[in-house]
Amino acid sequence: MIKGNFPIDKFKELQTPFYYYDMKVLEDTLHTAADEAGKYGYHIHYAVKANANPRILQLIARHGFGADCVSGGEIRAALDAGFPANSIVFAGVGKADWEINLGLDSDIFCFNVESLAELLVIEELAKAKGKVANVALRINPDVDAHTHAKITTGLKENKFGINLSMLGSVLDHFPLEHVRLIGIHTHIGSQITDMTSFQSLAIRINEIQDELEARGITVRNINLGGGLGIDYHHPNHLPIPEFGVYFAAIHKLLKVRPGQQIHFEPGRSIVAQCGTLISRVLYVKEGEVKRFAILDAGFTELIRPAMYDAYHRIENISNDLPVSVYDVVGPICESSDVFARDCELNEVHRGDFIALRSAGAYGEVMASQYNCRKLPNAYFSDQL
Ligand code: LLP
Repeated sequence: MIKGNFPIDKFKELQTPFYYYDMKVLEDTLHTAADEAGKYGYHIHYAVKANANPRILQLIARHGFGADCVSGGEIRAALDAGFPANSIVFAGVGKADWEINLGLDSDIFCFNVESLAELLVIEELAKAKGKVANVALRINPDVDAHTHAKITTGLKENKFGINLSMLGSVLDHFPLEHVRLIGIHTHIGSQITDMTSFQSLAIRINEIQDELEARGITVRNINLGGGLGIDYHHPNHLPIPEFGVYFAAIHKLLKVRPGQQIHFEPGRSIVAQCGTLISRVLYVKEGEVKRFAILDAGFTELIRPAMYDAYHRIENISNDLPVSVYDVVGPICESSDVFARDCELNEVHRGDFIALRSAGAYGEVMASQYNCRKLPNAYFSDQL
């Protein structure tokens, strides 16, 4: 069984569970993403929601990426990490007044507006400050992302964005005095591996642009959101997502107007593969038909399997003994606290280190303190 490279001797001194980040994998991913986007002059705003660990954010900012934020807290985290304010886009269906004011005071690049109600509040708050807010309308493009129901967002009936059929009535409110319409924004879902979804999105954006132009509106910015999937099954063979294929697919179909800027908001594809949740085996429990490997990590540290039935590759990195089959479970008092059923692992013993791979995105950042547990620590390959 091929496994990741981990400094196990160093791990022995650390209290499990914890997140371990391979900074070389992150650097390589950032270089590839930047190079591939650079071929077409595309702009990347890293989706902070995927991982807001300060060291991770700082490295991404140093590589010249912008930030995509969905809360005032994320705007602060992005600014603290060194992302320039004029590279920050701010989405979210429920922006509170203080969050809009923070965006205005910080002079962020753009508010991605999700409803007419929100647009009018931004106009009012910007007026009170004597400012003009840049906005992009988030349009619900009605494109099927063919992904998990809980992480698809671009279909018609959805809390996100403005439905295509209602776009006209929102546009009727322009021009506004304190809001400048600078773009359109879309996001169809997450963990998308089928490029035809992105191709459909590009074609739909062309249609939307035609409609806008028929009304005499040309926007300077087109934002296609995030969503590029990663290979959860082969983190050792394919650690870097296919940014080249993704951007080329969009480039082939998207009709870019002169002077227009194209933006993306990838989260998972940037940070997923650099992160691993490291845990120790507390007990091996023999059942009547099953054998359980009971870990000291649970859904409090990595909620994706419990919440989305997500698959994470699991490796026993302590030995190379013959393989056996286990249900890998956590210590939380909930029957959904299961990482995997019938999982093949090198024979498991109390104290073994278990690696839950591809956990850099939506892992540490979604951790909770349920059962009065401590939030997990994070360690970095270049600091151990
Ligand atoms: N832009 C917007 C407007 C978004 O809503 C999202 C993710 C992204 C960008 C980044 O998408 P990504 O490139 O990471 O796919 N917790 C779930 C994923 C939720 C994604 C929410 N929105 C998971 O663990 O799978």
